Amino acid sequence: MQMRKLAINGGSPIRTCPFAAWPIWDEREEHALLEVLRSGVWGALDPERSKVAQFERAFARSHHARHGLCVTNGSAALEVALRAAGVGLGDEVIVPAYTFIATASACLMAGAAPVFVDIDPDSYNIDPARVEEAITARTKAIIPVHIGGCPADMDRILPIAQSHGLSVIEDACQAHAASWKGSRVGSMGDMGCFSFQSSKNINAGEGGIILTQSDELANRVWSVRNCGRVREGLWYQHEHVGFNYRMTEWQGAILLAQLARMEDLARRREANAARLSGRLAGIAGITPQGRDPRVTQHAYHLYILRYDAVSFGGLNRAAFLAALQAEGIPCSKGYYPLYRTRAIQRGVVGLRGSVSGNQAGYELPDCPVTERACDEEGVWLAQNLLLGTKDDVDDIVLAIAKIKENAGSVPREA
Ligand SMILES: Cc1ncc(COP(=O)(O)O)c(C=O)c1O
Repeated sequence: MQMRKLAINGGSPIRTCPFAAWPIWDEREEHALLEVLRSGVWGALDPERSKVAQFERAFARSHHARHGLCVTNGSAALEVALRAAGVGLGDEVIVPAYTFIATASACLMAGAAPVFVDIDPDSYNIDPARVEEAITARTKAIIPVHIGGCPADMDRILPIAQSHGLSVIEDACQAHAASWKGSRVGSMGDMGCFSFQSSKNINAGEGGIILTQSDELANRVWSVRNCGRVREGLWYQHEHVGFNYRMTEWQGAILLAQLARMEDLARRREANAARLSGRLAGIAGITPQGRDPRVTQHAYHLYILRYDAVSFGGLNRAAFLAALQAEGIPCSKGYYPLYRTRAIQRGVVGLRGSVSGNQAGYELPDCPVTERACDEEGVWLAQNLLLGTKDDVDDIVLAIAKIKENAGSVPREA
């Protein structure tokens, strides 16, 4: 077989044109924004007629939930949900070590300590066996994260929570339209939180929503996001400690337009991901994120690969990523273990000190799978790479195959 010079060594890249543009918008967004502008109603105070309220109903319906309550962003959604669940000072919340920092910092913002547990080596989702081991008398809630848009094992997590009287708050910030055995994420736990930040599969620049089936939790969420007001109360009647986490009508308008495309784009990502996984199966050392057969829809906010350097002649992940980028395929290594960040360590130590006077240093949890995923194995491709044509998908495979073929020539110092 003819050796092709890698782009990182001055050869021609597999791909020179960009992947599908993100965000996607058209005259529907333009029209909706102008409508808000001309109405003069830019804040969502009228619960019946506002764009935000319309979106809340439509998004909740699309995710099989009784209530939807929008907030400023996904981080706020997690914090508000924790507060609504009664999580507070001195409590512990079980979270996966492989996730965005907001999953853990939301706990600290609510006064609770995040307790990190390891992930499943195949799916990179929270490992239910580790969840059970981490429960203490202080545990109040579990936050399973549907990582990359792949639903976590809710069949195991929900009974564990139920048997210990814990709340389950799904972090579905990356998982719009994903489903587990036909049930949409965000509708299975006590509450489910989504993000509409720019990179997310539904994008309003910023934004978030909390879903719940419970009337009581919906009322508590409503209060926390509305400065502690109560639904039937007066404007200057504050019954609980809350804050202003309300969304604007601009976001509500954009979100209604974006939601109209959600199912179609989700199907496109699924079809292209299936093609990508099928083709990658022929390349030893590249393993797509494991997908449990009970995952009936994966949101593919991220297409996650597990990279094995040994199969690529010892080429480390950093060098592989540099070579793949040079071939015109945007990619990244993803997370670092959250418990290694100073912010989290300081937050947990400070909290413990204020609750019990114990100022001892931060004790690192034992999460070898997270360490491997973060330091050696994980490779991320963003969702928009799956919104184009079959040729786009095939370029990813061609680029990886080209690197494998020429692995010995990749500069090692990367
Ligand atoms: C898993 C996860 N949780 C929470 C968030 C926070 O969402 P936001 O950026 O809207 O605050 C994100 C966003 O990156 C996320 O990926």
